[in-house]
Amino acid sequence: MLPVVLTCIPKLYLIKIPPMKFLSSLILSFTLIGLWSCSDSGNPVDSGNNTSDPVLDDCGVTDGDNSSCVNYSTEIKPLFDSKCTGCHGASGGLNLGSYSTLMSGGSSGVVVISENGSGSYLIKKLRGAETISGVQMPKSGGYLDESDIQLIETWIDEGALNN
Ligand code: HEC
Repeated sequence: MLPVVLTCIPKLYLIKIPPMKFLSSLILSFTLIGLWSCSDSGNPVDSGNNTSDPVLDDCGVTDGDNSSCVNYSTEIKPLFDSKCTGCHGASGGLNLGSYSTLMSGGSSGVVVISENGSGSYLIKKLRGAETISGVQMPKSGGYLDESDIQLIETWIDEGALNN
């Protein structure tokens, strides 16, 4: 290396290298330096079988286990049991007593559209939306607090899981 440098320096000083050649070797040098600095030095960013890609759970939590989702069995079903199943039990029509009967709907068809809380008929009935037929639920009055309706809506938005 050293002899090369030593032989190059005098040549440069004597301007024996024609200016155009000097310029083109300068450009080549910068290109090579550029390529070298861009090299990943053997540490590829993506090896193709990257197992550490972030995975979102049903509630959008990175690498989560759905534990932050609204829970059907501990939060939603108890609400139905205390406010709805007196009328929406086993006898005909919409049965709110279990997850499967809730999801199969009532005489108007499906009342829960997974991931679409505000579009679900159940939520419209609870808010007494103008588009519903019949009356706001619960029929006997004592409507749900907005926070409870929102809880059910969130549960539906999160995929209406049987959790
Ligand atoms: C006092 C009895 C009573 C209670 C309590 C009650 N409902 Fe109802 N519900 C009815 C009757 C009667 C209908 C049918 C007439 C109507 O749609 O207004 C109905 C209809 C519905 C429908 C429409 C079903 C369909 O297929 O058309 C939904 C959804 C509903 N109820 C949800 C609820 C929820 C959720 C609760 C509890 C927060 C509740 N109801 C509490 C009597 C009740």
